[in-house]
Parts: sequence; C-alpha cells; structure tokens
Amino acid sequence: MTDDLDRIMAVMNVAFDPAYGEAWNRRQVEDALAFGNCHYGLVGAQGMPPLEDEPAVGFFLSRTGFGEEELLLLGVNPEFRGQGLGRHLLNELAKGAKGRDVSRLLLEMRRGNPAESLYRSFGFYSIGERREYYRLQNGERIDAITFACDIG
Ligand SMILES: CC(C)(COP(=O)(O)OP(=O)(O)OC[C@H]1O[C@@H](n2cnc3c(N)ncnc32)[C@H](O)[C@@H]1OP(=O)(O)O)[C@@H](O)C(=O)NCCC(=O)NCCS
Repeated sequence: MTDDLDRIMAVMNVAFDPAYGEAWNRRQVEDALAFGNCHYGLVGAQGMPPLEDEPAVGFFLSRTGFGEEELLLLGVNPEFRGQGLGRHLLNELAKGAKGRDVSRLLLEMRRGNPAESLYRSFGFYSIGERREYYRLQNGERIDAITFACDIG
C-alpha cells in the first residue's frame, strides 16, 4: 500500500492546478484509505495497472456508501492526457463499484472544469449545484456542480 500511496501522491502533485486547492495531501489520502469504504485505481503509461517497479500516470479515489459511490478525485499526469486514460479510470471505477452493488456514481466538480466533457460523455448528468461553494486562493468563488451517473 505504501507504494501505491507514493504512486497516488506523485500523480496528485502534478495533476492538480494549485490555484484551485483541490489536491489532497498524503495524510488525507492515507486516512481515507484506512477507513475501508474508500477505493482507488491506478493506471500506468500503457493503460494497464502499473507493474511493480512502474509509476502510475493516473489514479482515482472514491468512497462507497448507501448504494452510491462518490468519485473524490480523478487525476492524470498532464504529459499523458488526451489518450483515454481518464476515461479508462472511470470505467475501472464503474466496474469496481458494480461489484460492490453500487447503482449510482456521484461526483462534485467546480463549474468550468474542462473535465466536464469527459464526465458527460461517460454518462454523468448534473443533479444540483452549490452556489459559490469553492473559494480559490485569489478569493474568487466558484459554484460546485454535482453529477450522477446510473450504472445499476
Ligand atoms: C480530467 C482528467 C483526469 C482527464 O484525463 P485524460 O486522460 O486527459 O482524459 P481522456 O483522455 O480520457 O479524455 C476523455 C475526453 O474528455 C476530454 N477531456 C478530458 N480532459 C479534458 C481537458 N482538460 N480539456 C478538454 N477536454 C478534456 C477529451 O477531449 C476526451 O474527449 P474524447 O474522448 O471525445 O476525445 C485530466 O484532465 C486531469 O487530471 N485534470 C486535472 C485534475 C482534475 O481536474 N480532475 C477532475 C476533478 S477531481
């Protein structure tokens, strides 16, 4: 697990724009995974789970509860974007969630995140919003949009 935590953090540190403060620190990821209701997936440069000595280039982190699974984080190293790895990770998330009897995926995204096109083409649709929920480092406020995707 320590290796995978290292792999997740290596992607975390390059995938998320610090302006939005979305990246988690190591302790937050470690704590989430210690609870047992959180799950993660890794992808290597070849679109497969990384081999033992290989770094990850993308990951997801999710949390299961009450028949739903929330995507907490999805990140791909910028050098490897646009190759379908984000979509691959969403497929892996859905596959794993189905195995846990989950019928609906959820996620929350800041308005304007370009990832929206990926989420929508995967089957996510908007179910609500929280006005000015996120506060950026520069003080600007951005709405949060909640998306769901039925997989049951
Ligand atoms: C979102 C993210 C994981 C997508 O990873 P990716 O490997 O580039 O995704 P894919 O290659 O599978 O892209 C799938 C589709 O979404 C579109 N897309 C994904 N990210 C996009 C972006 N940043 N800008 C424009 N389009 C994007 C692609 O054009 C592609 O469409 P297509 O299949 O019709 O060509 C990656 O951009 C990322 O790490 N972003 C920063 C972290 C983040 O904001 N995560 C989401 C919120 S937690």
